[in-house]
Amino acid sequence: MTVPLVVGNWKMNGKLAESVVLAKSIVSRLKTKPANAEIAIAPPFTALAAVRDEVRNSPLKLAAQNCHWEPSGAFTGEVSAPMLSEIGCHFVILGHSERRQIFHEADDMIRKKLIAVTGQNMRAILCVGETLDQRQAGKTIDIVTTQLDNALKGLSKGVIENLAIAYEPVWAIGTGLNANPEQVREVHNCLRIHLQSGFGAASGSVVRLLYGGSVKPEIAASLTKLDEVNGFLVGGASLLAEPFLAIADAFNEN
Ligand code: PGA
Repeated sequence: MTVPLVVGNWKMNGKLAESVVLAKSIVSRLKTKPANAEIAIAPPFTALAAVRDEVRNSPLKLAAQNCHWEPSGAFTGEVSAPMLSEIGCHFVILGHSERRQIFHEADDMIRKKLIAVTGQNMRAILCVGETLDQRQAGKTIDIVTTQLDNALKGLSKGVIENLAIAYEPVWAIGTGLNANPEQVREVHNCLRIHLQSGFGAASGSVVRLLYGGSVKPEIAASLTKLDEVNGFLVGGASLLAEPFLAIADAFNEN
């Protein structure tokens, strides 16, 4: 059975002291009530080392929000995969829609980042998702499968198995709007079939498919019932330990 994965994306929130307090409270809640899922948090780069010290010897894993594809060099303001691996990251989020839209990350850059991350034995969480205009134009499946194909082009089976894919409809991120279970089911089923046909049934089946976009405890349970929802990527609701872990707890009820 696939172990679900629940990741908290803190985005550009949390100075050092706040980050340590939040990590501590997640660790202590997990001690008293373990989750039925793999749990990771992605603090800002500046808090990674301090949070790493808090999560050491706990089941809570460390994730980064982005990285550059080159190992080192003249890339002012960037952080590389070897640097993230050295600091103790298990996961790196790639291709988040905020990166694609605000920072103009193209599929080819994301593909190179994926190679860099998996080359360091870290696992990548690749985000895909459509805008509201694209959904209304009936292009959702086309957009997400194209994003997937472009990011995974040329990658081998051994690499694919180290990925999770997060379906994050852009119109649902930070808006309080959610994709309804039927919309999530349709996209996740398509992504699964697409992965299986591209990489074979075995490899395509082990990739975890996460949903992200205004996930809150109140809606988590309706989504964990879906066969192809293997976790969540949580933004706003991950900034407090209780709602974040309540979302993960939805997997206990299955
Ligand atoms: P949100 O963010 O939960 O605040 O909508 C999700 C994300 O951007 O990963």
